Amino acid sequence: MGPAIPKIVRFFGLFILCSMFEGSLSVRFKVSSTTSIVAALGSDVLLPCHLIPEMNAEKMEIRWFKPMYQPYVHLYINGKDDYTAQMPQFANRTELLKDNITRGIFPLKIHKVTAQDSGEYYCYVESSDAHGRTTVQLQVTAVGSLPVITSNTYTSNDTAFCVSCGWLPEPSLIWTDTQGNQVIPSMENVYRNETSLYCIFSIISLPDSSNITCTVSNSINQRKQSSRQIRESGHPVTFRDQYSRYIIFWSYLTYLLLCIGYIYYQSMELREKKKEIRRLRAACASHEGLFY
Ligand SMILES: *[C@@H]1O[C@H](CO)[C@@H](O)[C@H](O)[C@H]1NC(C)=O
Ligand SMILES: *[C@@H]1O[C@H](CO)[C@@H](O)[C@H](O)[C@H]1NC(C)=O
Ligand SMILES: *[C@@H]1O[C@H](CO)[C@@H](O)[C@H](O)[C@H]1NC(C)=O
Ligand SMILES: *[C@@H]1O[C@H](CO)[C@@H](O)[C@H](O)[C@H]1NC(C)=O
Ligand SMILES: *[C@@H]1O[C@H](CO)[C@@H](O)[C@H](O)[C@H]1NC(C)=O
Repeated sequence: MGPAIPKIVRFFGLFILCSMFEGSLSVRFKVSSTTSIVAALGSDVLLPCHLIPEMNAEKMEIRWFKPMYQPYVHLYINGKDDYTAQMPQFANRTELLKDNITRGIFPLKIHKVTAQDSGEYYCYVESSDAHGRTTVQLQVTAVGSLPVITSNTYTSNDTAFCVSCGWLPEPSLIWTDTQGNQVIPSMENVYRNETSLYCIFSIISLPDSSNITCTVSNSINQRKQSSRQIRESGHPVTFRDQYSRYIIFWSYLTYLLLCIGYIYYQSMELREKKKEIRRLRAACASHEGLFY
């Protein structure tokens, strides 16, 4: 029964104080923050929240939540943090910084932000006689992999394919040719990976250009780009060309061997003929000897 007495005393004390100041001392405040915060995936982020004018918020309720009110992202009530009904997504990842809470400044720190953490957050503050709320937009970003360009020149239609993964928020892709002109893709798709990050791929019919560039960027202009040499001075360097070069090489070689063979044969024949002539001359000489 011991602790019940001071509680009653405190209640009456508060009651008397409140009745004394009711109407004459209604402490109004405005809750304020930054409208948007950008954070890299996996980093720690600070969502600002403070009172205007500056006032002690130690005894106030501070509730951070996402558009659905319950459960909450973080709750500070009765002078301490309450994790009993926190969104499981934020378990062990939130921290209300109270160093300056007596001046009405109490940012929320979220550790290791994930793709799912993106979105709107509300900072709701309630005192005994006033309340206020503000909104902060958190955008978690990630820069994807270097785009990989592959070209397909086996079929009758020459196409190039570009793919890049690991983006946040949703990326866009642009193809440009040697002159910097945009090339319109024949097909494009964006999908969300098992990691909740975006992949983008695009297919084009190869333009009459020597060098194509594939640039992928997200909405906050983080970008990655790759180029690929697809043609050589206006002539396509294709599988077909490689193949025809191969054929030309072997044709030349065969031709060369045939020529050598032919010359050799001719020279052999010539040598035989010379021998024959020499033999005939010798024969003639002996016959002449017979005549003279
Ligand atoms: C949070 O921390 C507690 C104690 O360190 C641990 O038991 C619990 O598994 C953690 N929860 C998550 C979701 O990491
Ligand atoms: C509290 O306020 C002081 C002075 O403005 C500042 O240097 C300090 O970083 C603040 N602490 C936190 C945790 O924001
Ligand atoms: C080749 O391109 C033409 C016109 O762009 C299209 O009609 C045809 O279906 C394509 N053929 C193949 C095999 O992709
Ligand atoms: C998902 O993304 C990661 C990197 O962001 C990438 O390595 C992986 O290949 C992707 N998975 C699929 C199925 O595209
Ligand atoms: C292709 O174009 C890109 C971008 O314009 C350029 O950086 C790269 O050097 C070019 N490559 C070649 C081989 O011309």
